[in-house]
Amino acid sequence: MRKILVITVITIALILLGIVSVGASTKKHKKVVADFDAAATYKSKCVSCHGAKADKKFDATKADDDLVQVILKGKKAEKPPNMPEYESKGITADQAKALVTLMKSLKA
Ligand code: HEC
Repeated sequence: MRKILVITVITIALILLGIVSVGASTKKHKKVVADFDAAATYKSKCVSCHGAKADKKFDATKADDDLVQVILKGKKAEKPPNMPEYESKGITADQAKALVTLMKSLKA
């Protein structure tokens, strides 16, 4: 009789452990998805026009908020190419801010 009790307790403990570890790994996955990799985005989407050191078409002395707006809404240059707008491509204001911070640090 005691053996059955011990087995039951161990089984329940293992099930609970399983639930906890599945929960933990889901959380970790969500965090990875939420983390925005500004450096990788810059390399893949922006470096061709702005250069590896953000030294082209980028004035680091301008206010962050203005620069963020240009990323979100785009900007027509005097002659092409224009600055594309990235809001509709899924860049959020927070992500644009991270890109501005990155570009300023690249240029520094
Ligand atoms: C097709 C070329 C091109 C691409 C790609 C591009 N940009 Fe631009 N960007 C421009 C041009 C051109 C301007 C300047 C427009 C003007 O003021 O004449 C500009 C302006 C900006 C500005 C404002 C700079 C200032 O001094 O006012 C920021 C910030 C910026 N881009 C960030 C980005 C980021 C971040 C990406 C990638 C997600 C990106 N750009 C991709 C061409 C590009």
